[in-house]
Amino acid sequence: MKLFAKKDLDTVVREAHDPNLAEGHGGLKRTLGAAQLTALGIGAIIGAGIFSLTGGAAAHHAGPGVAYSFVLGGILCAFAGLCYAELASMIPVAGSAYAYSYTTMGEFIAWIIGWDLILEYLFGAIAVSNSWSGYVYSVINNTLGIRLADGLAMFFRGPFEEVTVGVGEAAHTVHGVWNVPASVVALLCAAILYRGIKESAWVNTLIVVLKVSILIVFIALGVGVISADNLFVNHEASGLMALVPPVVVDADGTSHFGWGLGGVLTGAGVVFFAYIGFDAVSTTAQEAKNPKRDLPIGILSSLVICTILYIVIAVTLTGVVHYTDLGVPDPIAVGIDAIVRLRGWDAGPRAWFTGAIKLGALAGLTSVVLVMMLGQTRVFYAMASDGLLPWFHRTHPAYNTPHIATVLTGVAVAVCGGFMPMYIVGELVSIGTLLAFVLVCLGVPILRRTNPNTPRPFKVPAPWVVGLCGAGSCLFVMAGLPADTWIRLLVWLALGFVIYFTYGRKNSVLQRRLAA
Ligand code: ALA
Repeated sequence: MKLFAKKDLDTVVREAHDPNLAEGHGGLKRTLGAAQLTALGIGAIIGAGIFSLTGGAAAHHAGPGVAYSFVLGGILCAFAGLCYAELASMIPVAGSAYAYSYTTMGEFIAWIIGWDLILEYLFGAIAVSNSWSGYVYSVINNTLGIRLADGLAMFFRGPFEEVTVGVGEAAHTVHGVWNVPASVVALLCAAILYRGIKESAWVNTLIVVLKVSILIVFIALGVGVISADNLFVNHEASGLMALVPPVVVDADGTSHFGWGLGGVLTGAGVVFFAYIGFDAVSTTAQEAKNPKRDLPIGILSSLVICTILYIVIAVTLTGVVHYTDLGVPDPIAVGIDAIVRLRGWDAGPRAWFTGAIKLGALAGLTSVVLVMMLGQTRVFYAMASDGLLPWFHRTHPAYNTPHIATVLTGVAVAVCGGFMPMYIVGELVSIGTLLAFVLVCLGVPILRRTNPNTPRPFKVPAPWVVGLCGAGSCLFVMAGLPADTWIRLLVWLALGFVIYFTYGRKNSVLQRRLAA
């Protein structure tokens, strides 16, 4: 048996377009156009990152220079996005990075990436389902001022976390038992995904229109009341350099702010989470009407739209609120509160706009959970089609969705979102995604060398430069993640090895074909 046996690229491409070779009853259905694919990308990108993490990145690392962190994050993702676009247009199959690695680096590496993508999509959905629940609770407790009984509040957090009941002096914490809203949103998204790709794309597009409109209103109201005092905090520097607070060194020698580690660069590692998701577009390759043309459009346009939005939001937010006041879980809501105050509006509009921002955040988080779970089901589908996993390649006879994979994904997200400690999940999502990006970025130059003549409807300019810069910058960000995140990644991969050697290798369609 050859551990690094590769699939033949031309066969993969041919099979992807042959409806008779699709598994199950009729396989997946081609219904998505360029606009829906772009909306799926935006649906997966805009979520907890911009609505929650931006505040901490500004308050603790980059100050108003968090806009530069978004620029750096955007550049890193642009390298990866270009590489995804080339491979997705060339190899339009559901498995995304898993499938590309199967043709470039062989089965074992493909398995590692398929297993690793669970960290991005499944764990991503788990992390964001928890933020969703946190936002629901904040609306009830803080915005509406409804004080839930302790016996009810404990169903808003898992058993490893605490929840604060009440506000001000009356506030106290209780231990969580089961994060019910996180489980509910997971099952709701699974039900939509089960029903059909067209329905899922429709719901997603609706949510995207809502959340993007709310963010545009935030910008439109905020830019007019930006204060230079909030933005230009480094009085020793001039021009745009003055956005970055000067380096502060603690007694223990750790530094904060400035350009490097501890500052804008670390901020970029934090806000990287906000960009995760554009690659989920590539997992719908077998459901796109014209994947060769529309996948690159979907991946790149969602990335460009979100990068521009993020940078403008970062400038607006740090322009209306001093960065030292942004270390909160809902910085955009704090931002809109400041905007209303600066404009001199009274309590009525303030409550209205804060409510709208919370609604936008909830909508945003919902579509992230939806599209992350969509990506996961398609990766499971692809891995099972290759024999590396059981059952998940079966499709529903009427709805044409991988229904078994969808049910399993929904139950897994609901159970883990309801009970798992969240501190384990967040950074695993980033490291898992970065690892997939590294392999995709390396895949482009490798395939240019091994298969120079395969048609590439979208071609990355300067593939060696883009591929190596992309892989290098992802590795750099990975190196900055804490040691325990690396240990968890290795434990996760070790678990994957056990499953591969006990199941996948024996049932691999490719290994059987080679043996025959
Ligand atoms: N980019 C997604 C978010 O920020 C994962 O929620």
